[in-house]
Amino acid sequence: MLIKKPADIKSSEITDKQLYLSRRDFLGASGLSLGALAAGIAAPGLLLGSNEAEAVAATRLGTLRKSKLSTGDTLTPYKDVTTYNNFYEFGTDKYSPAQLAGTLNTRPWTITVEGEVKKTRTFDIETLLKLAPLEERIYRMRCVEGWSMVIPWAGFSLSELIKQAEPNGNAKYLEFVTLQDPRQMPGQRSSVLDWPYVEGLRMDEAMHPLTILSLGLYGEVLPNQNGAPVRLVTPWKYGFKNAKSIVKIRFTSAPGVSSWMKANPREYGFYANVNPTVDHPRWSQAKERRIGEFLKRDTLMFNGYADQVAHLYAGMDLRKLY
Ligand code: MTE
Repeated sequence: MLIKKPADIKSSEITDKQLYLSRRDFLGASGLSLGALAAGIAAPGLLLGSNEAEAVAATRLGTLRKSKLSTGDTLTPYKDVTTYNNFYEFGTDKYSPAQLAGTLNTRPWTITVEGEVKKTRTFDIETLLKLAPLEERIYRMRCVEGWSMVIPWAGFSLSELIKQAEPNGNAKYLEFVTLQDPRQMPGQRSSVLDWPYVEGLRMDEAMHPLTILSLGLYGEVLPNQNGAPVRLVTPWKYGFKNAKSIVKIRFTSAPGVSSWMKANPREYGFYANVNPTVDHPRWSQAKERRIGEFLKRDTLMFNGYADQVAHLYAGMDLRKLY
């Protein structure tokens, strides 16, 4: 990655877990349905001024199911999750996506599922929102650059969509493709990456219960800078796996070449599993800085999800297959 070592960021505006939880109860109590959300219908304002209430209501998700797969780690403040981003379609520094991603138009939006499937299908975002109940998944996220966050995602298992897609017997891998539209995504006017952004997973990784399609965070619709309207989340892999603003999922018989593999094959591989024992060629991966914390903490194998995912890689040489 064209990564500079990350600058530390200030946690000036803290949304702590307690505040989020009480806010979430408030949002849940509003009973706004996903259908209403998909249709862009705002719930009536309760405690807020009407403009503010409309803005907040338009972004709210309804009640989210809790998940046993969530971590109990302290949440990273909302402000940091939504202003310190990697989204090269909106610039290469961390603060540009929050400033520039307003140009991304997320309605209408479709995801086309193609390749080794019974039949190519296109899902609009409203259909996708109704595909399965949204769950809250609080995951540790570890960027290859050495920082980490804990994010309360809202989404559902990717396996739900895969079932609908009806992959055939040749389907062994998936490719996730981001929107390509330089008018909406100013970063695509530069050739910093070979656009569109593409990432991949092996079928068993994609079917794993931890792997989700996320449509929201902190109980709200995904902000554009976090990959609206729908992105991938695989918490045991480095952050770059998690393709944002997906428009296409392609089932293939062989592994694809991701954008970062193309840009720098020596530094980025297909698997991208978090592994503190395999250094990046330019820095150690043994420790990480949790955003908002002062001291570095040890990075855990598979980002702390080894119990759930290590079996997927049994017998593989993770030094070679990084
Ligand atoms: N997806 C697209 N389309 N473009 C990107 O530049 N950056 C990746 C990943 N997904 C990226 C992307 C990287 S490097 C990281 S660390 C995560 O998104 C960051 O996600 P976040 O900004 O929501 O924390």
